[in-house]
Amino acid sequence: MQDQLIIFDTTLRDGEQSPGAAMTRDDKVRIGKQLERLRVDVIEAGFAASSPGDFEAIRAVAAAVKDSTVCSLARANESDVRRAGEAIKGANAGRVHTFIATSPIHMKHKLRMEPDQVLEAAVKAVKLAREYTDDVEFSAEDAVRSDVDFLCRIFEAAIMAGARTINVPDTVGYSVPALWGELFRQLMTRIPNSGKAVWSTHCHDDLGMAVANSLAAVLAGARQVECTINGLGERAGNASLEEVVMAVRTRADVFKLGSRIDATQIVPASKLVSTITGYPVQPNKAVVGANAFAHESGIHQDGVLKHRETYEIMRAADVGWGANRISLGKLSGRSAFKARLQELGMTPSDEALNVAFGKFKELADKKREIFDEDIQALMSDEAVTPAKEHYALVSLTAHSETGQKPYARVVITEEGRERRAEARGDGQVDATFQAIESLVQSGAELRLYSVNNVTEGSDSQGEVTVRLSKNGRIVNGTGADTDIVVASAKAYVNALNRLGARSRVNPQYGVEATVA
Ligand code: KIV
Ligand code: ZN
Repeated sequence: MQDQLIIFDTTLRDGEQSPGAAMTRDDKVRIGKQLERLRVDVIEAGFAASSPGDFEAIRAVAAAVKDSTVCSLARANESDVRRAGEAIKGANAGRVHTFIATSPIHMKHKLRMEPDQVLEAAVKAVKLAREYTDDVEFSAEDAVRSDVDFLCRIFEAAIMAGARTINVPDTVGYSVPALWGELFRQLMTRIPNSGKAVWSTHCHDDLGMAVANSLAAVLAGARQVECTINGLGERAGNASLEEVVMAVRTRADVFKLGSRIDATQIVPASKLVSTITGYPVQPNKAVVGANAFAHESGIHQDGVLKHRETYEIMRAADVGWGANRISLGKLSGRSAFKARLQELGMTPSDEALNVAFGKFKELADKKREIFDEDIQALMSDEAVTPAKEHYALVSLTAHSETGQKPYARVVITEEGRERRAEARGDGQVDATFQAIESLVQSGAELRLYSVNNVTEGSDSQGEVTVRLSKNGRIVNGTGADTDIVVASAKAYVNALNRLGARSRVNPQYGVEATVA
């Protein structure tokens, strides 16, 4: 039988460490269900000790997902491990992933611990985690800059203590493929009990080599790759799941490995993660970028028409392009709408369902065909999940005329109280933002504004991301509407609400991240 590659997705944990990408419990369940449809082996759903909200989110993912292992991260200390163990209790299959830094620079300056103390903490954490589950993973943070002799000692001890997966992270994205593969070869030959664990690679993309390094580790014998949808993640991101999976599949002649992944779910997963986190996908991104299968030059177009394989090494349909199906139409009823939401992993409250169904009907009046992506975007709308938000958009009037300064009038509620303002700006969007700011006076800095179409065609909904920062805190707000000025206003209000939300601890830095 062909050897299998285990795909460990950490979009909900390392992906969430991207600035402004914090997710709510419901967001995590929606993405978790899509990852299950994608058939990833392991879903790292969060870091249970970071906040009560993330603990609950992991529990909710563990309850909702049946076909993938659900995992929580934990630092190598008693309270983190217990919290992680509790969070995954309801899972069909649950894993605790405990880690501690092993590089001299981290041990000395961050942990202020001696190597022997680090080793002892790792062993204790693994043993404690085994009280909750047999499926325990141990990671040596910053392995890339760690002493190989020390890595051999700590990994051997972790395996002896009961770790079944040993993860070797390039935490700072520093390695190059030849060295990364060599490190795996060394560890796997030098550690006497290495055969008792699955070897795993976890690479960051600071030098743009996360995928190349991960694949080098696979060629050297690693059988688990830790990755994220769209390569989301801390700083420059993690290895991108879609690139790893499609490289292994397309070059089966090189890797000779199978995986459980249903690749037709890749593009829907990419779109969902982008919608929820507000991180747009660059058009020329491999596999999931809008141009990944577009042929611009006449010679290429001619070649592809004559024989597709002249210029294409993968088929767009195989990774889920064009798979967006017409979900529902104007005449669909409430129960069909509810059933489709359930299929997409969403179980809104009755109150939210009523609002969502109303929004769906409004959208169906404006747009001929409603796709799954439209429903996903609609369900991300704050109006649908009225979580007692501080601000809400009530109405917007915007106007432009050649030779006149564009104008906007907005009505918003602040804790239920209606407030209105008008402003002129460089465009309707600018005027809208200025009008909102004149009311809320947040003083936040606009760091990013981007618009993407949710589906094809000029009647598509525009999906807007607004990134705001204030006092070192960064949040993304999203909004979708067939009118992009309205979508922009929704995104701005959404970002303001997130700016006011609670915060939680980042497992690696101890600093705060926003929880929506
Ligand atoms: O990059 C890293 O080292 C991590 C660990 C917590 C696995 O994310
Ligand atoms: Zn990481």
